[in-house]
Amino acid sequence: MKFLTQISAALGLLSTSVLAHPVLDDLLQPSAPLKRAAAALTQVNSFGDNPSGAKMYIYVPSQLAENPPIIVAIHYCTGTAQAYYSGSPYAQLADQKGFIVIYPESPYSGTCWDVSSKETLTHNGGGNSNSIANMVSYTLEQYGADASKVFVTGSSSGAMMTNVMAATYPELFAAGIVYSGVPAGCFYDQAGGADTWNNSCATGQSTGSAELWGSIALNMDPGYDGPRPKMQIYHGSADTTLYPNNYNETIKQWASVFGYDYTKPDETAGNTPQSQYTTYTWGDNLIGIYAQGVGHTVPIRGSDDMTFFGL
Ligand SMILES: *[C@@H]1O[C@H](CO)[C@@H](O)[C@H](O)[C@H]1NC(C)=O
Ligand SMILES: *[C@@H]1O[C@H](CO)[C@@H](O)[C@H](O)[C@H]1NC(C)=O
Repeated sequence: MKFLTQISAALGLLSTSVLAHPVLDDLLQPSAPLKRAAAALTQVNSFGDNPSGAKMYIYVPSQLAENPPIIVAIHYCTGTAQAYYSGSPYAQLADQKGFIVIYPESPYSGTCWDVSSKETLTHNGGGNSNSIANMVSYTLEQYGADASKVFVTGSSSGAMMTNVMAATYPELFAAGIVYSGVPAGCFYDQAGGADTWNNSCATGQSTGSAELWGSIALNMDPGYDGPRPKMQIYHGSADTTLYPNNYNETIKQWASVFGYDYTKPDETAGNTPQSQYTTYTWGDNLIGIYAQGVGHTVPIRGSDDMTFFGL
């Protein structure tokens, strides 16, 4: 509608012969669908400081909202920006809703994300999280995007990274959605390696109190006490890559950060949002969705994501 208003206003300046143009006629029919070309996934080569060498790809829909929201969509291990662009629903939803999608790409050979080094687990620490935060800052500036509507999501390694982004850059994000990840800090490597596999965490042996997990997240950006992204955590009960214990440990982490008792959700809804899934809600900031019988990874629920993000 906004577009039509602009077109109508512009036409006030045009001659009647231009008005007869069939394409413009078409646009002036309120019921005619707007014609537009699909945009493309594009690499951005310089987005500012990139200490960890992560790559930035961006999808800017042809019909961009004014002050567009941003979704950062982070791929799984062995994935690429291109694979997550074509394999997830976000670009299509961007076409409908006018937000921008940033697809970061891991610089590592197995193309998992670094969720193990001190650098990546620290605000402005110079790791992958720092590079992704800089992609967000670049996009906010370049497109006049809405800083209050920046969201992060990912699957598997990208889900782990989503928890890490929420912990290291809480000021950047309004909400995060985690599809089959582990708590922020759970893949920590004592030897300091970047992009290493932590078997104890993956197999669900890294357990701790809610307070411990909470403090691990808080210590990634010590001293920060502003608003934090609300979180939605999906996990499958039949996950044999990142064992289901990681669901509970992640819930404990964010429950502690927000001051909820993780053992007492305010609401529990069986068979929601679909059969065999149970949704647990704590206050305004935490939702856990445990998918009975689902393995690695829980399939992305694009339109539910839009609801959680308020888009
Ligand atoms: C794996 O992560 C846990 C925390 O989840 C940590 O205690 C442990 O030391 C890590 N393992 C290695 C080999 O660094
Ligand atoms: C997760 O925690 C709940 C209690 O909040 C418990 O009933 C459940 O067995 C736990 N699940 C796992 C996989 O540890």
